[in-house]
Amino acid sequence: MKPVLKTTFFLSLFCFSFNGYAQLELQKPSIIPQPVSLRLGNDHFLINNETVLELAGNQKELKPAADFFISYIKGISDYTLAIKKAKTNVITLKKVNNPLLGEEGYTLLVNSNGIQIAANGRAGIVYGMQSIFQTLPQIQTNAALQIPGMEITDYPRFKWRGMHLDVSRHFFSPDMVKEYIDLMASYKINTFHWHLVDDQGWRIEIKKYPKLTDVGAWRVDQNKRVWSSRPLAKPGEPATYGGYYTQKQIKDIIEYAAIRNVTIVPEIEMPGHVASAIAAYPQLSCSQHPQLPLTGGDYGPVAANYCAGNEEVYAFLEDVLTEVLALFPSKYIHIGGDEVNKTAWKNCPKCQSRIKTSGLKDEHELQSYFITRMEKFLIGKQRRMIGWDEILEGGLAPEATVMSWRGEAGGIEAAKMKHQVIMTPSNPVYFDQYQAGPEGEPMAIGGFNSLKEVYDYEPVPEEMTAKDAKYLLGAQANVWTEYIVTKSHLEYMVLPRMLALGEVLWSPAVRKNWVDFSDRLKYHFNGFDQKGYHYSPGNYTVAIKPLISQGKLSAELLVEATKGDIFYTLNGDQPSTASLKYTGPISIDSTATLKAMYALDGALMGLVPAKQSFVFDLATAKKVNYVHPQAKIYSADGPNSLTDGIRGTTSLQKYWHGFDGKDLIATIDLGQQATIGTAALGCLQNYDEWVILPQWVKFEASTDGVNFKELKTVNHTIPIDQKYTLLHDFKAVFKPVTTRYVRVTAKVLDALPKGHSGAGLPAWIFADEIILTK
Ligand code: ACM
Ligand code: ZN
Repeated sequence: MKPVLKTTFFLSLFCFSFNGYAQLELQKPSIIPQPVSLRLGNDHFLINNETVLELAGNQKELKPAADFFISYIKGISDYTLAIKKAKTNVITLKKVNNPLLGEEGYTLLVNSNGIQIAANGRAGIVYGMQSIFQTLPQIQTNAALQIPGMEITDYPRFKWRGMHLDVSRHFFSPDMVKEYIDLMASYKINTFHWHLVDDQGWRIEIKKYPKLTDVGAWRVDQNKRVWSSRPLAKPGEPATYGGYYTQKQIKDIIEYAAIRNVTIVPEIEMPGHVASAIAAYPQLSCSQHPQLPLTGGDYGPVAANYCAGNEEVYAFLEDVLTEVLALFPSKYIHIGGDEVNKTAWKNCPKCQSRIKTSGLKDEHELQSYFITRMEKFLIGKQRRMIGWDEILEGGLAPEATVMSWRGEAGGIEAAKMKHQVIMTPSNPVYFDQYQAGPEGEPMAIGGFNSLKEVYDYEPVPEEMTAKDAKYLLGAQANVWTEYIVTKSHLEYMVLPRMLALGEVLWSPAVRKNWVDFSDRLKYHFNGFDQKGYHYSPGNYTVAIKPLISQGKLSAELLVEATKGDIFYTLNGDQPSTASLKYTGPISIDSTATLKAMYALDGALMGLVPAKQSFVFDLATAKKVNYVHPQAKIYSADGPNSLTDGIRGTTSLQKYWHGFDGKDLIATIDLGQQATIGTAALGCLQNYDEWVILPQWVKFEASTDGVNFKELKTVNHTIPIDQKYTLLHDFKAVFKPVTTRYVRVTAKVLDALPKGHSGAGLPAWIFADEIILTK
């Protein structure tokens, strides 16, 4: 039995008054990305069993598109559409010659008589279909297949509209890869960057080197442990986790993508991030020591680079690429090039000899030599090479395309050098980072790229001249999967951010509108619900932001979604739609726990309520002056973070003021005389991140802000090399004094100890709050 659905998912109904007499009900489609132009008609077209498809133009080109349409309709209904000529009840696919539409644009006309999709080629025809699919039910249904009357003219802003997927850190099945491609295609994203090779797994069958997948694709299963703290594999332990794609499966996926206008760009990472290849063929590394496939993020002594001085490596890579090129028709081939730790090259006689004989300056130039050599091979096969922005270091290969991920600087520099560029800055288009919370969100690698940040992303940097911008092909989001193990988690990380990216890359900048996008998004969420896809409701998560103004503390509640209301409580209770409704900053004048949730059409949205506790004391909301300012990248919620009533968490980003190698010297002006008997400074220690508790903390008082008298100095006995993150309050109790100013001095550790990665260099101080009580 098929479920009977009463609504179509992607349609919103709205009414308008016609000459003051009639109420006409029209259906406004919620298409994402927003088309260049969309005019609503006043009727609709109904697909039924008699509906036919007519191909007007090159049959060979149009037939596969027609088959795609037929199979899609079959997937959501009982209808099997025939291909033939007809006067009515017909969907016409028409090949035209319209320069405005380019290679991927289309026009779409829907009225009660039929549908016409016109385009210069198959890509545009298929995109016209995707716009239609978004107005239809998303799963098998008995509901009418009703498409609103409309007229669309549409074409993309950028040529390269990319999504990346790392299948090395975790392996995703061919079916999941197809689902990913389907999602991309729905939102008119046309390039799938398939990250097939990395340290923790080699995922593509190479017939000449079977051990790459026999050995390199399998590791000891440590999925129950956090990525960064997995033990190295021991000899004899069964390597049961992994997988790879056979060449047959890859061909099938490439075909599947092609009909959806998705080009697959394979990434065969080199010269670093290849511990998996070295596990299979140890002779490819500098040390040539045997090693086992990595289980996670702990590398121990494992080699991760190819030896750049060994001819056998180049021959191996040319063989590998020869098989890759035979599979993938893509003009572009990605060779990685990121994050190469060059220590092994420094200590390798072969690498050093290559530096000498080739007249290279250093290991950066050795990397450039390596990449340039591989580029020459690819150019000889009529392909173009892409690399991450590190390939700029040591000299860019002559025709390389640069993928800028460490911000946009690499891309800007490459465009200046007249090289093609793809923007993929980690902020905001790394979809492995949190999108809200993080409370309530599944564990992610860190960082924060919300839906709205993605939506607001402008791929052409302000610093880029119009002339240089010609080299900008487009942009892409990257999905690294260290923390993404399952299909549902992968869906969650890309939905709905992929939709925002689609609109950034397709729609004209002037057509972007966050409020309108949020509105359209709801219907896509309905579709995901129907299909059982997981997605983040992070855009409904409330963010709580402290505000300090004129010695008073308040809390501002922010949410990315529009049109709903925020409800909150101050006593720790779960908020409901019966709770206080937010109308503006909430005054905080005593210790409180604020919880808030967003509601839309009477229903609470999001995963968990946002929650923030405030401690209220004599210092709260009072002005703080620093001798050395806090580091910009650790400025918490602003200059008054030490008196905002908010305590830090174990996350380095959450509400800590960081001081880089300097003492923290802060003076609080209480505004008037007050009596205090205790003082405390909250601090954090995280050994690996160079954050060490201050040696001691001194509290002093002054009535004039000039002459200070010591109240107490507090020491501690906590060892600095504890492996876990530690929160510690330096608390002083003294005979009560009446004072207006309190000065806090926290002494930094001047030199990190031997064995620490920063040995000899000063530590950081992290502080969250100064607390003064009677
Ligand atoms: C990268 O994120 N290492 C390209
Ligand atoms: Zn070497």
